[in-house]
Amino acid sequence: MTKLAIPRRSLLLGTGFVVMSAERAFAATLATTPQQTEGPFYPVSFPTDMDNDLVQVSGQAAQAMGTVLHLQGRVLDSSGTTVPGAMVEIWQCDAQGIYDHPRQPGRERRDQAFQGYGRMLVDAEGRYSFRTLKPVAYPGRTPHIHFKVATAAGSQLTSQFHIAGEPETERDFVYRDATRSPQQRERIEMRLQPAPGLEPGALATSMDIVVG
Ligand SMILES: [Fe+2]
Repeated sequence: MTKLAIPRRSLLLGTGFVVMSAERAFAATLATTPQQTEGPFYPVSFPTDMDNDLVQVSGQAAQAMGTVLHLQGRVLDSSGTTVPGAMVEIWQCDAQGIYDHPRQPGRERRDQAFQGYGRMLVDAEGRYSFRTLKPVAYPGRTPHIHFKVATAAGSQLTSQFHIAGEPETERDFVYRDATRSPQQRERIEMRLQPAPGLEPGALATSMDIVVG
């Protein structure tokens, strides 16, 4: 008799397990964003204005030089689930290739209207968005935007977004080290699209960050 009573419960549990395993197997296919070096230009002190609009520094009339890029996406884990409470930071050089950093030669010539660094917490859907600049090359490197993601659970991912199709990128040592598979390459290659609907002359790209 017990033999009949127990199997019913086991069957239900068993079915649930099979379904869950299949979902997990299907969902756990997202390639993670490859880690890349932080580089020497992470801020040593943060700007007064460090919101997600790097093109406009609050209190200044001027807008940063360069082509505006709307960069947005989600922070996901490798099963495709959004990661709430994650902090996304970005930093990059100005349109002349100059970082706002003590180790930057010619820092005094930097574009004061460019914020250079911004951060934001993702929203309830795991989304982040920045209004920044299309990155430019500087000596020794192809165009890139540095970023760092810290999750509420305490994990951290540091990497860089590059521009898809940029002729010099294939030879860039940081890029080459991080892209051993096409899936990983996709995670850090921005495909830039004109976005006149957002603002005249602007570009836009969508980059999900998969923290694993
Ligand atoms: Fe850099």
